[in-house]
Amino acid sequence: MTALVNRLAATAHAGVLLFGLLLLLVQAADALWDDAASGRERISLNKGWHFKRWESNPDNIVLKPWILPMANAFINDPATHFKTPVDRQPGFRISFAGDSYNDTDWEAVDLPHDWAIKGPFYTADTPVVGGGMGRLPIHGIAWYRRKLTIGPEDEDRRIYLDIDGAMSYSMVWINGNLAGGWPFGYNSFRVDLTPYLKLNSSDNQLAIRLDNPVQSSRWYPGGGLYRNVWLVKVDDTHIAQWGTLVTTEGATAEAATVQLSVQVENSGNSSREVMVATDIYELADVKAGMRGMKVASLGSKLVSVLPGQRQTVNTSAKVEKPKLWGPPPTQTPNLHVAVTRLILASSNKTIDTYETRFGIRTLNATGERGLLVNGERIYLQGVNQHHDLGALGAAFNHRAAERQLEVLRELGANAIRMSHNPPAPELLDLADEMGFLVMNEAFDCWQNQKNPNDFHLIFDDWSEADLRAMMRRDRNHPSIFAWSTGNEVGEQTDGANGGSIGRRLSAIVHEEDPSHRGSTASMNVAKPNTPFTEAFDIMSLNYQGEGIRDTPAYSGFTGTHTPPLYPDFHKAFPNSLLLSSETAAALSTRGTYFFPVTNESSAPQTDQIPAGGSDPKLRQVSAYELYSTPFGASPDKVFAKQDENQPYVAGEFVWTGWDYLGEPTPYYSARSSYFGIVDLCGFKKDRFHLYQARWRPDLKTAHILPHWNWPDRKGEVTPVHVFTAADEAELFLNGKTLGTLKKASNVTSYRFRWDDVRYEPGELRVVTFKDGKEWANDTVLTTGAPAALRLTADRSLIKADGHDLSFLTVEVVDKDGLVVPDASNAITFTVVTVVGGYDMGEIAATDNGDPYDMVAFPSKTRKAFSGKALAIMRAKPGAGGLVTVVATAEGLTRGIVALTAVP
Ligand code: GAL
Repeated sequence: MTALVNRLAATAHAGVLLFGLLLLLVQAADALWDDAASGRERISLNKGWHFKRWESNPDNIVLKPWILPMANAFINDPATHFKTPVDRQPGFRISFAGDSYNDTDWEAVDLPHDWAIKGPFYTADTPVVGGGMGRLPIHGIAWYRRKLTIGPEDEDRRIYLDIDGAMSYSMVWINGNLAGGWPFGYNSFRVDLTPYLKLNSSDNQLAIRLDNPVQSSRWYPGGGLYRNVWLVKVDDTHIAQWGTLVTTEGATAEAATVQLSVQVENSGNSSREVMVATDIYELADVKAGMRGMKVASLGSKLVSVLPGQRQTVNTSAKVEKPKLWGPPPTQTPNLHVAVTRLILASSNKTIDTYETRFGIRTLNATGERGLLVNGERIYLQGVNQHHDLGALGAAFNHRAAERQLEVLRELGANAIRMSHNPPAPELLDLADEMGFLVMNEAFDCWQNQKNPNDFHLIFDDWSEADLRAMMRRDRNHPSIFAWSTGNEVGEQTDGANGGSIGRRLSAIVHEEDPSHRGSTASMNVAKPNTPFTEAFDIMSLNYQGEGIRDTPAYSGFTGTHTPPLYPDFHKAFPNSLLLSSETAAALSTRGTYFFPVTNESSAPQTDQIPAGGSDPKLRQVSAYELYSTPFGASPDKVFAKQDENQPYVAGEFVWTGWDYLGEPTPYYSARSSYFGIVDLCGFKKDRFHLYQARWRPDLKTAHILPHWNWPDRKGEVTPVHVFTAADEAELFLNGKTLGTLKKASNVTSYRFRWDDVRYEPGELRVVTFKDGKEWANDTVLTTGAPAALRLTADRSLIKADGHDLSFLTVEVVDKDGLVVPDASNAITFTVVTVVGGYDMGEIAATDNGDPYDMVAFPSKTRKAFSGKALAIMRAKPGAGGLVTVVATAEGLTRGIVALTAVP
């Protein structure tokens, strides 16, 4: 053991040095990046909060009239602005908001913080929060408090609080004064703290109240200050919140014209004359935020701004031979940054510097050929994603979000629909950097409710402000190709009213995005000839593209029955981009199979249909990947309908990429979904290989299912299916051929299936061919009993910053190292510090992807599920060092992995 530790320490020290060097380089780059004379500071306020939550309301306050005027900055018609109450402050004191309240016994927390994720799960039959919202304690009133230091240098500056997302109904107090708030939990917002701050004081009391109702969502919303929070300090005259807009129409590899509009805000008491000057740089190293070559200067413009006013300055410049942004693998997601400075005319002093990241590219939404990016047709291989990060909950974490995208990239996905709400801003940055196309979405409902306490309660007051706020924040992201104003809203079938709200929201989209990315709303029941449909530029169909309940297996279910509607929509809107914003709603549990297997290529599954597709006692659905909700379809059916309607159907967004918390259809006694192509841990379901074979047809892979450990099925029919991009496959059981199958070129078939195989233990092997040449093989073996744990880390070098993560997979293996596919041993994770001398890391959460596992996520002990479990390791902020994580289970050889945390 000592030898092992020494060896690990040596490697780790080499790693620390290398990483330290990299960090130095990055810091040097940052130094270039930071303009010394910037005039603007953006300070993270994530540390040092005191937090308390009540299940019922401790203070009974309703301050709606004071919060509503926050929307005015995002409502275009002044006549409809909300009036600020005559009394600028509510006439009563709230102790939690004031500076004399003693919060020392409250919980100390850092942000991003999701108060609900630690659980425990509600397991009762009539829980406070049911399966739909994840059976976690999301509800209640909470207060977050911390102090702010405002120094003498902050005199004459504007001090803003920028909250990237707070769940929900937030109200912000500073020094006992109500300064603002925002009800919608998914939008980012800014509160001006300036009028209420004490200068030269470290005793400015910030207090934020959140109110998160039950029955407010169809999925897990999380609760708390769950995204980043910033303090922004600027000169009185500065670039306004989200105050730049870049458009790059007409871009080619030869040249592009970049247009920039800059909104200058003067919140001081006297007029200001400022020069607005912008330089455009390539982003050389996106991760490090390192500028590359300067590619253009947008000439300076002088502008005079009256006190309390805003002025917009428009400039443009030509960029020669621009590096275009586009989705891999055929294009590269090159990014640029526009660095805009405000220079005071009187003194030549730079009073503000503002960076706008953007990409140069063209988007062309066609009715005939789908979406063209830089002239190339990009078939949308998209997935829907909810905002939670599995066992980490809603609390935004950069690495966890990046990992989600990495898994999707490996799958071959090139597009994401942000279902059904504005995402964390950093997720859009990641999409830009990695080259995903994004459908950004504002709402899940309008006036018609889906749940008693959802957004419908505030839609009339807030929909304009929320849609404009989302768009102003997000419109410079090159990844966004469409703006969705709603998902399956009740108004689809609401005749004139649906049409009129749709047109109002569409008009907002057109006003806020002059680059003409289209508006849409997803339709699962609206038909082509309804007023609703006509309101939008893009036709986004949920399920009705491939047909709903239109095959015999589904015909007995009540609800909409629709033939595939791609042709009808295309006929009615020949010039509109037509895509499926949701497809499949297929269901499965990783590594779990039930018998008999349906002969259909797509079969419905509810909690009432046990035979073959699922097991109501286990609350699991079979991973033969043939089963779906009654309104959905197997991937195979969707592929066929997409293919029949090429090239005008632009592609699909599968429901969903990853499993998510809540909506555990068909078993609402569970806590997370069955819809994902990957499970809640990020482990691949069999479906992963079905999509990968279609979306990455050049990848030489073949994948056999099911596993081959069926001691009770000797001699019984146990179908074997193979997912591969090959066109011919031969299956062998213990060396004997079970026959060769071919995908006929005139038949759309997306899997090979040998449905009559009788189980005998041993070896299953498939050999595949494409165009007559050997393509890829796969082997599945009957394994022995569990003997050991194998622990591996996705990254063994992480930053000791309190945020960076290493995802540790533990597999239960037999004596030959084969993963035992039905193992469910209880595994305990322990962190042992080896070098560094202090407690430097923690297991933040564990999971196994089982939607019905009710052990709270922070538990250090987790049962393996289908042979695997996940532990998420977070290094604490500090000096770093070498740490090992040990996984133990009774009777098994333990697993060890070494990690290095670097300061
Ligand atoms: C759709 C809905 C999604 C999700 C999905 C699966 O109708 O838009 O949010 O609920 O069904 O149930």
